[in-house]
Amino acid sequence: MSKNIVILTGAGVSAESGLGTFRDAGGVWTKYDLNDVATPEGFARNPGRVHDFYNARRVNARKARANAAHAALARLEVEHQGQVLIVTQNVDNLHERAGSKAVWHMHGELFRALCAACEARWDAPDQMHLDDECPECRAKATRPDVVWFGEIPYRMDEIYERVLDADLFVSIGTSGSVYPAAGFVEIANGAGAHTMELNLEPSETATAFAESRLGKATEVVPNWVDEVLADTN
Ligand code: APR
Repeated sequence: MSKNIVILTGAGVSAESGLGTFRDAGGVWTKYDLNDVATPEGFARNPGRVHDFYNARRVNARKARANAAHAALARLEVEHQGQVLIVTQNVDNLHERAGSKAVWHMHGELFRALCAACEARWDAPDQMHLDDECPECRAKATRPDVVWFGEIPYRMDEIYERVLDADLFVSIGTSGSVYPAAGFVEIANGAGAHTMELNLEPSETATAFAESRLGKATEVVPNWVDEVLADTN
């Protein structure tokens, strides 16, 4: 029986909600140069372009609806006799909108804003602009509270603790191409957890998982959740 479950999610879990993934055909990084819109250097060079990029993603994410995979994970958290933690690389809020409570956004959140001057954080307006003032220090240095390449993901110490303590580590909808998230499976393996990958196709770290199920998240995830709940309750 898997008491403590840690679930890592990536863009694939939100794909069927209409939010683009990054590295699939037609993905976000085939349309934008990540160096321009997802690095501190890109923001320093042209902050207006970065705000435009995230403003468009925020509008899309606001319009999107949680899908059956998000809903199944929320049900798992309610009904499982043990801990369920979602560590997500996604910056959308579809896990929360499906009802999940224990959701840690290691790459930050589209719907949160950050002041680059004083590090204040607040709920982001739908559209952020170059000359917006920080509500705390008034500096015109606001940015999306999203972790860019070259920056440190959030809550890493806590995440490592929870992965080390997990009985079951499940990776859903991620290509396994970005660290530190892509390295969690090896930590879970080293700590003796059972490791599973639920993905449309084998990820770059597929061989590290003890078990893998290929398919769309809206099909594979609800089936897996039904199995876990039947097994432990
Ligand atoms: N169901 C399940 N998996 C899917 C689906 C689907 N419907 N559609 C796509 N996938 C899978 C793809 O096969 C791929 O392995 O989701 C994965 C998406 O991979 P990426 O586009 O690389 O997204 P992700 O792994 O979340 O990227 C990690 O990279 O750009 C940074 O910060 C960004 O958080 C992001 C990180």
